[in-house]
Amino acid sequence: MRSKVTIVGAGNVGATLGQRVAERDYADVVLVDVIPDMPQGKALDILESGPVLGFDSLVTGTNSYDETENSDVVAITSGIARKPGMSRDDLIRTNQGIITQVTQEIVKRSPNAILICVTNPLDAMAQLAFKVSGFPRQRVMGQAGVLDTARFRTFIAQELNVSVRDVQAFVLGGHGDTMVPLTRLSTVAGVPLPKLISADRLTQIVQRTRDGGAEIVNLLKQGSAYYAPSASVLQMIDSIILDKKMIMPCAAYLDGEYGVSGLFVGVPVKLGAGGIEEIIQLDLTDDERAMLQKSVDSVRELVGVMGI
Ligand code: APR
Repeated sequence: MRSKVTIVGAGNVGATLGQRVAERDYADVVLVDVIPDMPQGKALDILESGPVLGFDSLVTGTNSYDETENSDVVAITSGIARKPGMSRDDLIRTNQGIITQVTQEIVKRSPNAILICVTNPLDAMAQLAFKVSGFPRQRVMGQAGVLDTARFRTFIAQELNVSVRDVQAFVLGGHGDTMVPLTRLSTVAGVPLPKLISADRLTQIVQRTRDGGAEIVNLLKQGSAYYAPSASVLQMIDSIILDKKMIMPCAAYLDGEYGVSGLFVGVPVKLGAGGIEEIIQLDLTDDERAMLQKSVDSVRELVGVMGI
């Protein structure tokens, strides 16, 4: 029997992720959204690409949750974007309501699923889904680090004119301003980055990575990035469904690791059929530790706004 992947929110990230998962041909896909007929239309459109691309994944769109029953993985991309005049705290509270309701519906029908939170602010939403679901920490995570690392690798590969495949990079902490790029442990074909790129230039590349989301938003004029975000979630789903045990940075609930307890923070983890099978602990320098602490503080603040 094929695995089942549900994606809640059939907007830009969700629908593109649905297409990507269907094309992998290892899982049936369910797209859920509140907009009448929209997920059904997108699902049918993706399904009809099967004969051309050669996949047999069943793709279903729905406005209810019955079709999500017994999902193996659920990616949550539902939410609203910040609108003009809306405060950050208003946005958090609105998305808090959406993620709470979605998580309750999912958990009722898929008590063994692995949850991947994509909706921003992502570390806080992962914390919320963890609390609402009551799932063990191995089965709730957030996507941000894979995307940040992908952006960083893209810019490094461009800078050095090498294949992106030869660039290994690690990014810890939160998405955006509080991201902690581990340039010291990032390599090109095994050579540490600081030996290949000057410190000044590396600082510029790190800043571009931190601003990666905003750079796309400014170009698009409406909406935000979704091709690289959906590809990043796909890599996590690949590692879980195919039990590949890839190591990648994800938002994970820390229970003493990195000196942090009771909070979701972006750290390297091993992803397999059991979800987060291991949290990889790296030795950090004092500077890196201080940057990580900023991330931790900002997630704590957001969690405080939600009152959970
Ligand atoms: N249940 C299901 N779907 C919902 C709900 C809900 N309660 N509330 C909103 N949605 C749906 C919207 O109808 C919309 O189709 O979530 C979808 C969000 O899609 P987009 O607005 O296109 O946003 P997208 O670009 O996909 O980003 C989704 O991912 O990367 C993050 O910051 C991004 O938080 C945002 C999320």
